[in-house]
Amino acid sequence: MRLRNVTPDDVEAYARMRCDPVMMADLGGPLPPDGMKDKVQRDALEAAADTAWIKMIIPDAGTPEVVAGSVTIWSHDTDDGPMSEIGWMILPQFQGRGLGKRAARALLEQARNEDRWGAVHAFPAVSNGASNGICRSLGFRLIAEQNVTFADRVLRSNHWVISPRTDLVPTATSTDHTGR
Ligand SMILES: CC(C)(COP(=O)(O)OP(=O)(O)OC[C@H]1O[C@@H](n2cnc3c(N)ncnc32)[C@H](O)[C@@H]1OP(=O)(O)O)[C@@H](O)C(=O)NCCC(=O)NCCS
Repeated sequence: MRLRNVTPDDVEAYARMRCDPVMMADLGGPLPPDGMKDKVQRDALEAAADTAWIKMIIPDAGTPEVVAGSVTIWSHDTDDGPMSEIGWMILPQFQGRGLGKRAARALLEQARNEDRWGAVHAFPAVSNGASNGICRSLGFRLIAEQNVTFADRVLRSNHWVISPRTDLVPTATSTDHTGR
């Protein structure tokens, strides 16, 4: 598996992730397809400028055109000051193989190695077993349940936080769940 910056050419992968009712079931429902071109262009600019880490997940370096999902760390303002947040999405045909966990770990390792982003927060829906599983098994601490607004919708979420420099659970093995 490797991660690369999002580019404007990823519009089709964005639509498969964000406009699909199943993919978006725990994220407030599907988004309209006509917003995807602008969204991917904005994200590509942010990734190129390094103001956010917006990465596409390439499961196999031998087939770089195949995208399995995305993982992102960005910062946003809150009443208590700036907050770093991580989010992830894995397309259905790639789910359940440990890819989401590996991709999240890879980005958090980069944050740790570059000493960037500080404490990283995550807000998976309370009903999202796999996302909460990623948080739990990577070493995030559960702070509380709370309501979170995502794409103008309010979701009941778990608030998790990790300090990558001290909390990231070491890998048991360097082999991924697909045996590659
Ligand atoms: C959530 C999502 C990213 C998970 O990706 P994935 O690659 O399928 O997850 P993984 O295979 O890496 O599994 C992650 C962990 O959760 C566990 N898990 C998976 N499904 C689970 C479930 N239904 N209930 C509880 N734990 C579960 C796994 O066992 C694994 O933990 P482990 O390594 O300790 O065994 C993916 O399902 C997805 O993109 N869903 C739609 C979009 C979405 O919900 N995004 C997240 C918004 S917060």
